[in-house]
Amino acid sequence: MTMRLRLASRPHYRPPGRNNRHISCAYQHVRLPGPMLLPLRLGVMNVLSWLRLAVTLWLLRRAARLAGWLLLAAAAVAAWPVTAVTAVGYTAAWLRGWPAVRLRRTAAEALLVTAVWLFAAALHASGWRTLALIPVRDWQAGWQWHVTAPGLTRTFLLLAPPALPAGLGLAALAWAWRIYAVTAGIRGWTASAPITFDARQWRRQVRTAGGRIAAPGAVPLLARRSRIPVGGTIRTVGHRWRPVFAVPAAACARHMVVVGATGSGKTNLMMRLWAGWFTATLAAARKGGRRPLLVVLDCKGGPDARTKAARTRRLLYGAGARRVAIWPDEARLSLWDLPPRDLAVLLFQMIDSGDGAAAYYADIMQAVLTLAVAAPCGPPRSAAAFLDRLDPRWLRRAWDDGRHPRQAERARAAARHLPDIQLRFATLLNRLGPALDGPGHLADADAWYFILEGTREPSVAEAQALALTELTARAACDPPAEPRAILLAADDYSAVSRRVPISNLYERGRSLGIGVQVSAQSWSGLGSSEDERTRIAATADGGVWVLSTPRPEPLAALAGMRRVLQTAHRLVGATWGDTTTRKGGTTRIERAWVADPELIRRLETGQACYIHRGAATFVQVARPVLSPLSLPVARPSVVLPPPRREPEPGPPPSLDDVLGSPVS
Ligand SMILES: Nc1ncnc2c1ncn2[C@@H]1O[C@H](COP(=O)(O)OP(=O)(O)O)[C@@H](O)[C@H]1O
Ligand SMILES: [Mg+2]
Repeated sequence: MTMRLRLASRPHYRPPGRNNRHISCAYQHVRLPGPMLLPLRLGVMNVLSWLRLAVTLWLLRRAARLAGWLLLAAAAVAAWPVTAVTAVGYTAAWLRGWPAVRLRRTAAEALLVTAVWLFAAALHASGWRTLALIPVRDWQAGWQWHVTAPGLTRTFLLLAPPALPAGLGLAALAWAWRIYAVTAGIRGWTASAPITFDARQWRRQVRTAGGRIAAPGAVPLLARRSRIPVGGTIRTVGHRWRPVFAVPAAACARHMVVVGATGSGKTNLMMRLWAGWFTATLAAARKGGRRPLLVVLDCKGGPDARTKAARTRRLLYGAGARRVAIWPDEARLSLWDLPPRDLAVLLFQMIDSGDGAAAYYADIMQAVLTLAVAAPCGPPRSAAAFLDRLDPRWLRRAWDDGRHPRQAERARAAARHLPDIQLRFATLLNRLGPALDGPGHLADADAWYFILEGTREPSVAEAQALALTELTARAACDPPAEPRAILLAADDYSAVSRRVPISNLYERGRSLGIGVQVSAQSWSGLGSSEDERTRIAATADGGVWVLSTPRPEPLAALAGMRRVLQTAHRLVGATWGDTTTRKGGTTRIERAWVADPELIRRLETGQACYIHRGAATFVQVARPVLSPLSLPVARPSVVLPPPRREPEPGPPPSLDDVLGSPVS
């Protein structure tokens, strides 16, 4: 209409002439007062006829619609038990934030009831026809009874077996359509409908997930098929939706990354994973697999480390771990059990030797360490014995046996540096404390909880982390020892990652076949360069857990993007134009995050996003319930024998040593 009126009122509008074929016959009989009024009259007539046509069409459309709705309403009333189930199912899904698949699965499960009912009915019915007519007969009978509560209940119960799956199936369809229509922007009263719908559904999903994990026994330590239940599913994109989200225990035996700000719930999540992994591996060991060995490095330490250690012990006790050693308070390990070559390299790495001009001293130090540790009389058995070896006379005596002239020469050349080196190592070993001086072996316990004071004493904790990683690697590849399934979990590893980057830990873990789980407080805590961080995150084949963190984008990018529909509507003023028919918009395929960084940023304590293979699941982590059984008391996990006494190494002192050499 607008266009025609505009055309008619245009100044250069040419009135239809005699030759104009567009004029209808009716107009040709009209007597016009003057040639100038012709266009106006024709315009008015056009508008009136168009109006009539439009109103008629509108009425027809409305009538058809109304008839459709009336038919639907009649069908809904007639099949009221199905309608009631559909309504309840739809409302429940809406209020609880369920995905449509939940309704679909429940409908499929309800089919079992139908099958049993059919079977029971078939026993009594004389043929298929009678069988098919049973619901019709019950339905008819329902209308004959008075519409009273007992009557309705009776009809509903009689018709429930076919009505339940049908109603739930319809509810699933309707709910799936609603979600599709609102998220794609096809339905909704305002332009912001997709956003508000999503926000509301998120709140409901969080509430539902919280309620689910609050139920006693809803999240056990281990579920069927060796899956570790983690908590209630809030939302999933790409993964299969289950009310309780669980990861396969095998994922823990690979590499996992956990990133989240302090207090976001990383340790709590990892504890649950440890307990689940331990239970699953122990169950596998009972069927002939390897026994589990869990090595936890609490790299941050601090006042609550002991509480966490005790909590872990109690939790693991419930998972079947009878010997959980807490280091350094209750158990020790011996650094000196390492093979000489590895020990020499480790001791060298434990000292901050620097680079540049210091590289010269670093080379000397490495040579001295090799001489001291790989002496013909065997490696040192304690810190004191090692320090004794950093002495010119000891080294000379050890190598001057006539069979090692080159080593003896080196020992002589390095003699003047030995006091410095000895001083440095005396300081380091003193700071490390006695807990790495033995006795004790990793294999002595089912699980170890190592407390490293990474916040208070970073350099000491770094050296300790190096040593413990090395000892774990040794336990994994020590041929005479019993092979164990090992999981090395480094909580807050960023506190000690300066000398052994996470990538190194991963590569060693991969080559040795041990699972590595690392947590960091932020994306930048994962590595020193962007390249390294990306490599770590991209190779975490056990999955990446992202908890609340201010910059989740690089981690969210691992899940990639997905295709979504977005509809653009014409706006008239501040509202959508043509709200009745929704015509005039365009729908396009756009890209959206699989793991939405906005959602991750707003995660609360205990909520996590698990990213694995291009899919993401948001989960409300359930705090693990500690074993109510009291732990056996007054028996340390690892019996600490008194420190070993080192037999005096090397050949017996010569007369020169006692009286002094006349040459030197
Ligand atoms: N899933 C959870 N549900 C409820 N509270 C939690 C959950 N996870 C952690 N918390 C609480 O948050 C606090 C910090 O948890 P923690 O796991 O130590 O965080 P992080 O290791 O990230 O610093 C703890 O006091 C704990 O009680
Ligand atoms: Mg923590």
